[in-house]
Amino acid sequence: MKTTISSTTPSALEIECLVAVVLDHSNSASNEKNKKPELKVAASDPAVAAVAADLLESGEVSGKPFETNLLHKPASLKAKRLLLISGGGVKKFSSYDLRRSAGAAVRALKTRGIRSFAFVAPQGIPAEESVRAIVEGAHVGNFDPDYYRSDRKDQKIEEVTIIASGDTGALEKSANEARIVGESQNFTRDLVNEPSNRMTPTILAERAKKMCAEVGLRCEVYGADKIKEMKMGAFWSVAQGSDEPPALIVMTYEPAGAPAKPMLGLVGKGITFDTGGISIKPADGMEKMKYDMAGGATMIGAMRAIALLKPKVKVIGIVCATENMPSGKAQKPGDVQIAMSGKSIEIINTDAEGRLVLADGLYYARQLGCTHLVDAATLTGAVVVALGYNNAGIFANDDEMYNRFHAANAKAGEKMWRMPLDDEYKEQIRSTIADIVNSGGRWGGAITAAMFLKEFAEDTPWIHLDIAGTAWMEEQKPWIAKGPSGIALRSLVEFVKSFG
Ligand code: BES
Ligand code: MN
Ligand code: ZN
Repeated sequence: MKTTISSTTPSALEIECLVAVVLDHSNSASNEKNKKPELKVAASDPAVAAVAADLLESGEVSGKPFETNLLHKPASLKAKRLLLISGGGVKKFSSYDLRRSAGAAVRALKTRGIRSFAFVAPQGIPAEESVRAIVEGAHVGNFDPDYYRSDRKDQKIEEVTIIASGDTGALEKSANEARIVGESQNFTRDLVNEPSNRMTPTILAERAKKMCAEVGLRCEVYGADKIKEMKMGAFWSVAQGSDEPPALIVMTYEPAGAPAKPMLGLVGKGITFDTGGISIKPADGMEKMKYDMAGGATMIGAMRAIALLKPKVKVIGIVCATENMPSGKAQKPGDVQIAMSGKSIEIINTDAEGRLVLADGLYYARQLGCTHLVDAATLTGAVVVALGYNNAGIFANDDEMYNRFHAANAKAGEKMWRMPLDDEYKEQIRSTIADIVNSGGRWGGAITAAMFLKEFAEDTPWIHLDIAGTAWMEEQKPWIAKGPSGIALRSLVEFVKSFG
């Protein structure tokens, strides 16, 4: 999507559609029954307010978030149409809501055959922050996972203009960075959307290689021999059951002039299909396990954005990609595996495979010299029980690292919630015959999975993101299609930028 910054008066812009936000200025604290909203267009141009006035005073507009109203041939505007998008109460409206409003505007307009529009940055939010939110949100809204449908209409918005006043150079820089992030997020969503027959570990590795060549990253892909040679016994224990060869994808970003330390390691779970293995999953809903490589795809997309944004910090992206299959070669409950770190693991449940591949991925990242680690994984159903679909789970072994990530998180407009990681939980992953078991049982399942990973991050500052409930939209929302969400990419990129 092309992005343009304009400082013209909205009414003077010749465009297919002008989009403006409508906010409710009534005292939102009161819930009186017949309370009328006081709706105002969040634009300083009186011509826009004048065109919208009759509609906003008609009582037909509720002002509730994401409500849209389209006016044709708006008098005294050069634009062919005016789309009003409600944002709710003025006091609460933030860049988080603006990002979603931009996505909703894109989704309302693209089905109407409109290919370009101009969004009026609302007053009240700093212009650079607005530009970023609008461009990122517009990209999120522009994605549809209908690639395999014969009736695919290929309706995409091709250009968005943001009308904002301020230092045009700085605003253009914001727009350009936001475009890189938005495109990378959609790149990740494309990978996640592919079914497992079209996204094997080998294909995932090829897609990563191609992307790395395009943006100038080093990329190595290791197969079964190298995985065994490096004694990645935990990773291999999952891969051994599948006829599809596994892939260890290593993407390296080493900008000139970056200090030797810190070196950031981004480790992703890349299970291209999770049947559960011998501890097989029920058939109902198993098709969804094609998105079990979302953490890995997030790291590939994040590396793309990092390579293009060029922060001055070293970053290594690692994806442990394999299927988890039952077969005559598959590992069985009760088996004992030795991880790359030397720790022994008693396999209680072969469906707890994500932590196995990540155990070796995290340890390997440390071997490569990473001083800070972040992993992302669709790791547990338990995190969905704990947090539902609206927040990803964050786990951290280091408060400073958590605070830095949390700040990045807020800026990126993604919802994540910190979960506990106290030593007491370790009791649940004790084994009688090995160092640890790979399943801590039902209670606190997301936490015991994180405790397992902590054994391999050891004293390296580390963040674990459990995105099982947030990587896939179960239903469409006004601002986003049903399907892969691309969650965590924006926070990861913002986190990396905070170092350089
Ligand atoms: N990939 C699943 C977790 C998952 C569940 C992702 C729902 C997306 C949506 C993971 O490998 C898994 O099977 N976890 C088990 C762990 C258990 C066996 C300890 C789970 O959560 O049930
Ligand atoms: Mn599993
Ligand atoms: Zn899994």
